[in-house]
Amino acid sequence: MIIAVDGPAASGKGTIARALARHYGLPHLDTGLLYRAVGLNLLRWGGDPDSEFAAVRACDFAQVDFDDPELKSETVGGLASRISAYPMVRETLLARQQDFARQDGGAVLDGRDIGTVIAPDAPAKLFVTAAPEVRAMRRHEELKRMGRTTHLDDVLIDIRARDERDMGRSTAPLVQADDADLLDTSDMTIDAAVQRAVALVEARLKHSA
Ligand code: DC
Repeated sequence: MIIAVDGPAASGKGTIARALARHYGLPHLDTGLLYRAVGLNLLRWGGDPDSEFAAVRACDFAQVDFDDPELKSETVGGLASRISAYPMVRETLLARQQDFARQDGGAVLDGRDIGTVIAPDAPAKLFVTAAPEVRAMRRHEELKRMGRTTHLDDVLIDIRARDERDMGRSTAPLVQADDADLLDTSDMTIDAAVQRAVALVEARLKHSA
């Protein structure tokens, strides 16, 4: 069983995907980390993010420690959003994600194009979203916990810019798949959002059984 979880930055999709993976005993892939790894490679190598060629060269995961906290930084997130618009970068990362999705027993993947491009046949798809102001507040809290000082206004500007890029690009833009269930977490606690996610997946699985 493949569960696809898509949505904008700081919508709660990662938390929900991890909880679903635990609930169903499935492996989980945060596909944003792959794009972030490319961004971090570029940053470290001094590569030009405006060059698609340089970005493709940075798709070298031998160099990346996926536990590196730098992957979670706003700088790397911004770079990931920029290089993820390049069709050749997306193409380079495609097989890795599809192999993960198609492993025996299934998997949970979260990202921007899981339900539309990576696993369009997934029986359960969630599109997790929340108001930009709520997402900015959550990201701000997360950054504070990580010891990074930022202004809420700047985080909101960043979130809006990221939304615009992720939704506006021509290759695999962030969009709700026709057969995805919408989960707006704006007014929900984490527990309530996870409960709702499980209920939506259960309903889909019953339907497809
Ligand atoms: O989910 P995240 O914030 O870690 O993702 C970082 C960036 O990577 C995001 O702004 C767009 C890109 N991304 C993508 O284009 N497709 C995915 N499946 C996952 C992430």
